Order: sequence, then structure tokens, then C-alpha cells
Amino acid sequence: MPEINVDFNRPIVVGNEFEYIKQAVENGHISGDGPFTKKCHAFLEKELGVPKALLTTSCTHALEMSAMLLDIQPGDEVIIPDFTFVSTVNAFVLRGAIPVFLDIRPDTLNLDESKLEAAITPRTKAIVPVHYAGVGCEMDSIMDIAISHNTAVVEDNAHGLFGKYKGKYLGTFGFMASQSFHETKNFTSGEGGALLINDPVLVERAEIIREKGTNRSRFFRGQVDKYTWVDIGSSYLPSDILAAFLFAQLEQREKIQLHRKQAWEMYDAGLKDWANTHDVQLPYVSDHCEQSYHMFYVLLPTLELRQKMIAYLRERGVYSVFHYLPLHLSDMGQSFGGKIGDCPVTERVSDQLIRLPFHNALTSGEQEQVIELIREFPF
Ligand SMILES: Cc1ncc(COP(=O)(O)O)c(C=O)c1O
Repeated sequence: MPEINVDFNRPIVVGNEFEYIKQAVENGHISGDGPFTKKCHAFLEKELGVPKALLTTSCTHALEMSAMLLDIQPGDEVIIPDFTFVSTVNAFVLRGAIPVFLDIRPDTLNLDESKLEAAITPRTKAIVPVHYAGVGCEMDSIMDIAISHNTAVVEDNAHGLFGKYKGKYLGTFGFMASQSFHETKNFTSGEGGALLINDPVLVERAEIIREKGTNRSRFFRGQVDKYTWVDIGSSYLPSDILAAFLFAQLEQREKIQLHRKQAWEMYDAGLKDWANTHDVQLPYVSDHCEQSYHMFYVLLPTLELRQKMIAYLRERGVYSVFHYLPLHLSDMGQSFGGKIGDCPVTERVSDQLIRLPFHNALTSGEQEQVIELIREFPF
């Protein structure tokens, strides 16, 4: 029987969530684009300085929208890091794209920009960097290469809301960026996401794609007298009930981020010397990046030790998890020609990584227990 119980993730109410949900119902507008959705849009636009933010039903759906907005056609190539969630690639493959999996840097676990130029071909339509754990990719190099090859950049910023690269918010570099508000993220509505649009030229079509391919947004603004089917699209609007929950969380930005910063620093301080003496790698954040404090992970020396540690912690009531499997070795990845050895860093990291409990309700007492258990782990 475990003496302790430390969840990997625990979503909590941090402010006015219930009050705002009640208000959303009383407003008589619980479908999409109601008052709370507009508040979330305005908040993200103001805080991040982006021309347009549109809430979506998930980050996956924001990525799907970006693929439609880029007019991805069958046979177009899209470059993505091999170490990411399936949605980063699936959104583009749904439009017929061929994924080109790029290996990651061993320090930040982000797309290895030194390998990017060699992966570009005349068919490359987009590069989709993922700011893993909310630590910025090397955006200067990525943007230079993308611009010189006339290729679009879509940032998958699922982890990185409020993180910065050289003083500029993640999600504001590419043509577009996707955000996630899934329950495991810093700010949540259970399921949810947003598309950030940095090129105003894309805004009108984005609204259409998000509204089932209709010009309904223009109709509601009184810009057309009826709305109709004008393009491809789908239903990507979250209910205003979800936006109400999310807005209450966004309002607590300072509180949430401070708590996560303290939790991250506590793990880092508590595990640093142990990591050094046990050949364990901790997250790396370069001086020019401000991370979003999305997660804390450790890289064990081997797969065997990683599995042993997950089981050891679980037996003692601490829930830790591994993360992405190499995409090029998944069934789908292999159908695109992926084979062992293509992305050696991802293949290694995927075997070694453990994400420790990390959430907005995590207490320092729980963290002390986790740190102590890890330090006592028999190698
Ligand atoms: C890098 C990355 N992109 C996209 C997603 C998909 O997010 P959502 O669950 O909001 O669709 C995830 C999920 O965690 C992710 O880690």
C-alpha cells in the first residue's frame, strides 16, 4: 500500500471559473464566440501582441486549421521534429502532406536547426517547430532558413504559452502558432486550443475555416447581409462555457506561472547534484530563453533504468510518465519510410525520458517526497 499519493496531473480551479460559467449560462450564449470567447481572444492578443487569436476546440484543431490556411496539397512536404505529439504531423498528413521527420537537439530536445537546411526541398511547404516543454527553439536560425527558402513556419506552441525566445513571446515568430488548453497544460479548459495568427492576411480565411467554411463571422459583424458556404472548413469553435473556464484561468496568469516556476526550481535544485553523479540529464534552458514552466523531466541513462524508475515511483504512490515515441518508427511513420537509425537522438531520448508530477495543485511537501524517493532510487 503506497504511503503517499502524488498525481502526475491534477486540474484545479484557480479563480472565478464557476462564477464565469454561471455568467455564461445567464448570458444566454453558450455556443461559440460568445462574450467569454471574445474576452479570451482580447486577452491573448493584448498579452502576446498578436494581430489575431482564435480559440479552437483543441491544439490539434488549430494545427488542422493552419494546414488548411497554408493550402497544403497532396505531395507537399512538411518538416516536423521527430519528437512530438502525433497532432503536429497528423494535421498536415490529413491534407495529403508527406512528413519529413527531423531529429532533435540533445540539450533542449527541440528540432535541430543545424539539420534543417539539408531537409528542405522544392516541395517543402512548411516547417513546424515545437517548443518542447515550453523552451524556445532556435527561432533566429529557423526563421532565416524558412525565409530564404520561402517556406512557412507554423509554431506548435502547445507547451509554450508565455515562454519567450530572446525577449519575444513563443508563438509570435511564425505565420501562425497553435496553443493547447488541454487539462495537462498550464492554463486549461479541459480540452481546448487557440490559433495565433501573425499575418493579418490570413485572418478572414481563418474565421471562415473555423466556422464550417462559412462567412458567418462577417455576417455577425454586419459586413454581409446573409452568410453562406464560401470555402472548406469545419467546426472549430469551443462553447462559451469552456471559454468562461479558460478566461478565469488566464486571469490568474501571474499566480499560475509563479507557482509553476517555484515548483520547477524546486525539482531542479533538489535533483541537480544527484543528476550529476548518476549520469542523469535535467532540462536545459539557454540564457536567451524564458521557459513557460510547462513540465519537469529527467533523462535516465538507459531504457531499463527508466522503466524501473517509473515502476519504483508508482509502487510508492508517485505517478510519473514517459513521453513521445519516435514518430518515424510509429506504424504511420514507417509507412512514410521511417526506419531505425533515422533520428538517433529522438530514439535515445524517447527511451530515457520521465516526466515528473507537475501541475497547478502540486505542493512543496509532495515535491519533497518525490525528490527524496528519486534520490533513494537504487541504480
Ligand atoms: C506538442 C503538442 N502538440 C499538440 C498537442 C495536441 O494538443 P490538444 O490535446 O490540445 O489537441 C499536444 C498534446 O499534448 C502536444 O504535446
